[in-house]
Amino acid sequence: MQLDRLLQKHGFGTRKACRGLIRSERVTVNGESCLNPFAEFDTSELDFTVDGVTWPYAEFAYLMLNKPMGYECSRKPLHHPGVLTLLPIPLRERGVQPIGRLDEDTTGLLLITDDGHLNHLLSSAKRKVPKVYLATTRHPVDQNQIDSLLSGVLLNDEPTPICVAACEIVGSHQLRLTVTEGKYHQVKRMVAAAGNRVESLHREAVGELILPADLEPGQWRWLSRHDLHKLGYLS
Ligand code: URA
Repeated sequence: MQLDRLLQKHGFGTRKACRGLIRSERVTVNGESCLNPFAEFDTSELDFTVDGVTWPYAEFAYLMLNKPMGYECSRKPLHHPGVLTLLPIPLRERGVQPIGRLDEDTTGLLLITDDGHLNHLLSSAKRKVPKVYLATTRHPVDQNQIDSLLSGVLLNDEPTPICVAACEIVGSHQLRLTVTEGKYHQVKRMVAAAGNRVESLHREAVGELILPADLEPGQWRWLSRHDLHKLGYLS
């Protein structure tokens, strides 16, 4: 791939702007300076730097973020900054979007990509991808609430009861529960329908992919091939 096109694809501006970056000696490829915007590179195993920051060649960007409180996932955030502001500008410029949404006050694992196919696959109701949440509740949790959540609760805009796929008590005021849908405020509404109230909510896992303990709130990282396998993507 031609170098100016490669940079453009990775969110470094127009072709013309990318040529400017290259000609002003701000770009290296596989550790070597390159001043020719039209130089062709084999993209397998390629990495490049712009102003000293290293980027892997990535056909699509697959990322995980430990979402902190106080960020909105919507495309046009209204009351709080958008989650995408936590990413470097080139990633935002290449058009990544969160896969599904977490509420502004929900923390934890958020997947982000510019691959519409993965986004569709993980969001699709048919695939029933399990999402694991740790909910801290206002009132003590009890077996009745667990039984209701497991057998199904009726949410006001749903025709039939919805049940959690799994639920366990992890503390006097804490539940770990797994849902396979992605309905609006689903966990909060389900817990409310079971007679309690969610005070804070943290997503621990999507499918087999668990939020790494060393990924601090507000930090992001690239998904590895292994991570994508865990999401059932890549064979
Ligand atoms: N369920 C909720 O109620 N909120 C979230 O952010 C995610 C799931």
